[in-house]
Amino acid sequence: MKFNTKTIHGGQEHDLAFGSVMPPIYQTSTYAQSTPGGHKGYEYSRTHNPTRHALEKAFASIENGNHGLAFASGLAAIDAILKLLQSGDEVISTNDLYGGTYRLFTKIYEDFGIKFHFIGMENAEHIEDYINENTKLIWVETPTNPMLNIIDIVTTAQIAKKHNVLLGVDNTFATPYLQQPLDLGADIVMHSATKYLGGHSDLVMGALVVKDNGLAERLYFIQNASGAVCGPQDAFLALRGIKTLHIRMQRHCENGKAVATYLVNHPKIENVYWPGLENHPNHEVAKSQMNDFGGMVSFTTKGNNYEEAIKIVENFKIFTLAESLGGVESLAGHPASMTHASIPKENREKTGIVDSLIRLSVGIEDETDLIADLKQAID
Ligand SMILES: Cc1ncc(COP(=O)(O)O)c(C=O)c1O
Repeated sequence: MKFNTKTIHGGQEHDLAFGSVMPPIYQTSTYAQSTPGGHKGYEYSRTHNPTRHALEKAFASIENGNHGLAFASGLAAIDAILKLLQSGDEVISTNDLYGGTYRLFTKIYEDFGIKFHFIGMENAEHIEDYINENTKLIWVETPTNPMLNIIDIVTTAQIAKKHNVLLGVDNTFATPYLQQPLDLGADIVMHSATKYLGGHSDLVMGALVVKDNGLAERLYFIQNASGAVCGPQDAFLALRGIKTLHIRMQRHCENGKAVATYLVNHPKIENVYWPGLENHPNHEVAKSQMNDFGGMVSFTTKGNNYEEAIKIVENFKIFTLAESLGGVESLAGHPASMTHASIPKENREKTGIVDSLIRLSVGIEDETDLIADLKQAID
């Protein structure tokens, strides 16, 4: 099955009771048993729920994996991966990553004795310098949030395999429409399904997909034992969202390109970060591992003035100033004061998150309206 068909049919079957084309929302916590253990495959909705199960099969299908798991949020999904580790283990992570992931690593798991190395991975060979016998996980976001850096997944996977270390890839920004990390050698692919997979800014959810049966078994155990699962209503909404992922992403990419091109030519703009630009430092890697370049675009203004950046985001009329990304509507954010405020200023600025940085999640509206909005807000 090709990807565009998988988003609609992958892992799905019509409802066995009445043939409903969409899976019913099984809004139940428990299931009747005829005798202890005599049930129809479902006992308790933290462990299994048919609507969630349908979604988990869709997750596995679109990411070319064998097992999908749905969680209450993207961070709950990352939390489940970290629970594979033990005190004394070490993790090597991209230094430019979602602020909430950084907070989870440093404010929760460091206290449990896990050591994190945050490094620039734009040159993947650099990773090997940080590997020792305690290294258990390499954590990669690509493209990164918010600097849109690109990490070479194939080379990173080869390094991870050589040292018997797990490679997890946060595929939130790219989605499987643009890149399929498991096929490039990653062990675990993770999503904030809150973003492009859901696609309509109406739910909070996380996803994990793996190929390996043993790894899946451990993650299912953690999912049930820790209990951060999503509810059936949200599972239904995410399934509905995934069915249009391919056409939404196509438009996100077209509009992303139009916005990046407009900003590059604007006299008040200093830097534009979008992996489709030929002067992006890892444009060639992006071309080799992605099918297109996505709808996330970041930029800075000349003079790097904090107040000016705030004024721009306040003046947008179509772009909405808000946290989050990946919905049909265009959003704008100011990472230094919003999504990445939990990262100390000094660390933030080392990775490029300066005071004037603005991050756009370019939606699927008409491109001319988006450009006109950027023009009036910046001018
Ligand atoms: C790249 C990335 N990973 C993970 C997360 C966390 O996901 P959630 O907000 O669904 O917990 C986010 C949220 O913005 C994100 O942008």
